[in-house]
Amino acid sequence: MKELYIIACISQDHGLGKAGDLLWHISEDMQFFRTTTLDSTVVMGRKTYESIGRPLPKRQNVVLSRQDVDGVTTYRDQSVLDAFLKSIPGKKFIIGGASLYQMYLDQAEKLYLTEVASTKPADTYFPEFNRDNYTRKVLQSGEHEGVKYQIAEYTRKSPLNDLS
Ligand SMILES: NC(=O)c1ccc[n+]([C@@H]2O[C@H](COP(=O)([O-])OP(=O)(O)OC[C@H]3O[C@@H](n4cnc5c(N)ncnc54)[C@H](OP(=O)(O)O)[C@@H]3O)[C@@H](O)[C@H]2O)c1
Repeated sequence: MKELYIIACISQDHGLGKAGDLLWHISEDMQFFRTTTLDSTVVMGRKTYESIGRPLPKRQNVVLSRQDVDGVTTYRDQSVLDAFLKSIPGKKFIIGGASLYQMYLDQAEKLYLTEVASTKPADTYFPEFNRDNYTRKVLQSGEHEGVKYQIAEYTRKSPLNDLS
């Protein structure tokens, strides 16, 4: 999908979260997330929305859930959400969690992954994907509490056919 991107922070084993919380709280990663997604549409599953606890400011917030979720635009069905995302201009970021990443991995033009060179116990994982199909560009690198991380932009080598 045109201007559809994925953004996530993952451990070496693709761990994303545990007990509804993030595994890593890296301030440079949070800052990168904020500046990258600002003024765009952010799309998330209900559990991720609840873990954030409020709509993200200065962004259009959209939640996928089979229930009504207070204070935010909610879609109950992926096909209706798809149609909505295709109909709006501008950048759309899938911000988690695992179910939403899995759903949109094949439709995302780029992945923005903060890759932490360590692991922590997790109960939610980013899906496996074939890194050979992407060009990887390091945007930032650093160290957090003795653990190295890189913020990488993965761009598809072959553009998606359906860029509607
Ligand atoms: N490291 C990162 O970058 C990152 C980013 C985001 C989240 N996380 C972590 O990931 C965890 C949450 O992720 P998660 O995968 O457990 O949950 P999630 O994807 O955020 O939310 C799952 C919920 O989304 C709704 N949903 C999913 N598929 C649906 C469909 N086809 N139709 C309608 N609704 C659908 C359902 O909500 P209902 O149950 O309401 O129907 C489902 O329970 C937390 O630990 C969070 O901290 C990490």
